[in-house]
Formats: sequence, C-alpha cells, structure tokens
Amino acid sequence: MLQAYPEVIILADENTSHHCLPILQPILKNIKETIIISSGEENKTIQACEKVFEKMMAVNATRHTLLLNVGGGMLCDLGGFCASIYKRGIEYINIPTSLLCMVDAAFGGKTAVNFLQTKNMIGTFYEPKTVYYNTDFLNTLPLRHLHNGFVEMLKHGLIAYADYFEDLCGIDMHGIDLTDTKHLLKYIQTSIDIKQQIVGEDPHEQGLRKILNAGHTIGHALEATQKNMYHGEAVAWGLLAEAKLSNELGILPKDQLEIIEAFIWNHYIASKPENIDYNMMLEKIKNDKKNSSKYISFSLLQQIGACGYDIEVELDLEVLERILK
Ligand code: GLY
Repeated sequence: MLQAYPEVIILADENTSHHCLPILQPILKNIKETIIISSGEENKTIQACEKVFEKMMAVNATRHTLLLNVGGGMLCDLGGFCASIYKRGIEYINIPTSLLCMVDAAFGGKTAVNFLQTKNMIGTFYEPKTVYYNTDFLNTLPLRHLHNGFVEMLKHGLIAYADYFEDLCGIDMHGIDLTDTKHLLKYIQTSIDIKQQIVGEDPHEQGLRKILNAGHTIGHALEATQKNMYHGEAVAWGLLAEAKLSNELGILPKDQLEIIEAFIWNHYIASKPENIDYNMMLEKIKNDKKNSSKYISFSLLQQIGACGYDIEVELDLEVLERILK
C-alpha cells in the first residue's frame, strides 16, 4: 500500500502513536516523519493544523508526500483537512482506530476543524486515496467507545436499511456483541457500504447525503452543551428526539418510534442527558451552518429504513423540551 509513495508522513495522536503504531509497524514503509498531535476534540483547531504544516515544511514535504492519518474521527478530520490544503492538496490515507471513525468519519471525504466554538465549521470535501481498517484496534478500546461508534451503525440501518437495523438490535433487542470484534466485521462492512452508496450518489451533500445527518441536529447541540458526553451518545439521544419530532409531525408511525425508543433507553440510559440547557441548545442549533435563521432544517425518519431531508421545522423551546423528555 505505502510502497507506491516515495515518502510518507504519519499523523497520529498521543494515544494512537502508543497503542496503534506498533500494530501497524509491519506495513509502515517509506516513513519520513511521524507527527504527533494532542488528542481530544478541543484540539481540532486551525492552530493544530499550523503545527502540522510547520512540521511538514521542516522536513520539506512535497506535493508527492502521502499523509497517513492514524486515529479516530478528530484526527482523520483534521489530517484530511491538512492534506486538502497543504501545497493545494496532497494525497492521504485514513487508518481509523475507533469504531466511530471506521463506520463514519474515515469515509466520504468530509474534512474539517472546529472554529469559534462551532463544530466542523471550516473544512473541505476531499476524499482519501483509500481507507485501511483493522478490527484489532477495537480490542484496545473500552466498551463505552464501542457503544459510541455503534450509534452511527444504528443510524445507517434507521435511515437506509431496516433489516440491518433489526440485525443490529439482535434477538430480544439485546444488541449485537460489540466485544466480539471478528463478528462485528461484517456489520462494519455493511455500514461502510451504506455510507459509500449514499456518498457516491451525492458526494457534496447537495441532497441525499443529508440523511447521514439524521440525529445530528439535536445531537451536535447536546454534545456541545452536555458535560462528558461522547459524540455517539449525543447522536443516540438526538436520533430519539428527532424520531419523536418526526412522529409529532405525522411522518414517523408511532409503532416505529416505540422500537427506536426502547432500544435507545435500553442501551444508552447511562448517558441520558441531564440538566439540559434548552436555551443554549436552541442557540447552538440556530447557529448551525446547515440552518437558515427562521426554520431548522432536519433529516427526519419516515419509517425504520427510510429518511427524508430538508424538512423545515419551526423549533421552539417548548418543542425542544418535549422531544428531549
Ligand atoms: N458524517 C456524515 C457524512 O459524512 O456525511
């Protein structure tokens, strides 16, 4: 894979350099430099990109240098962004090390950093040359991280493939065993296929790709305003809140809402949002780049396995409070 590139720069963070680079050692070739950045969403900034560029320039990285991103969503988003603008664009490969990144951020070419407290405000569409994923990395992760990524898989079933959602829910709604990473592989591949098919039809999110944002309008606002809530946990409660909204608007049937509700309560109760600041959430939602000032544009489930997009809703505090109960 890397032999084709005369020189490769690895971008990793404090965790992946320690836990994942040793696993990758046999396939690492032509490495010119390893750049290590601080982990954590708070470091997904323009300033972190400047440091990456400084280090790339210090080793005279050219337009033919490959950037190899080894990390989770934060690192792949930031590394992809750096690759997209360094010398007007160099090639990059993502090696996702978290379940969340394997089934979502590593694929599809969305790159970004956060800016002025707004998530993914500055970014580009710029596809990686390829994505290499290895479920061995998942063995290094705590269960909470696996549940974090699992939400995006549930989302793929909910928006596009009812049978897949049913498979993920498992017998008696117990959910599949996330610690059996070999068994997880086929589900990861299904999620990637669903995402790739949607992205293939609409790479720049002019239409259909917006269904991948289901649960994220409420989810991003929860993530930004709740302490210690992971992205996937916020999206889980966002999916449920938006499913309730869809049902209130007469789009999603009640029996389908009840299935989603039962699963989220069973599996994500430990991360149920507390002391919600509805005012701040509404402010965040209104500032979100996807919305015009008066109406909020949602991607809402029509049934399990089908999702609409560009559904304009006048969201006020009362509605927000009700759907997050
Ligand atoms: N994470 C949603 C997308 O890639 O469109």
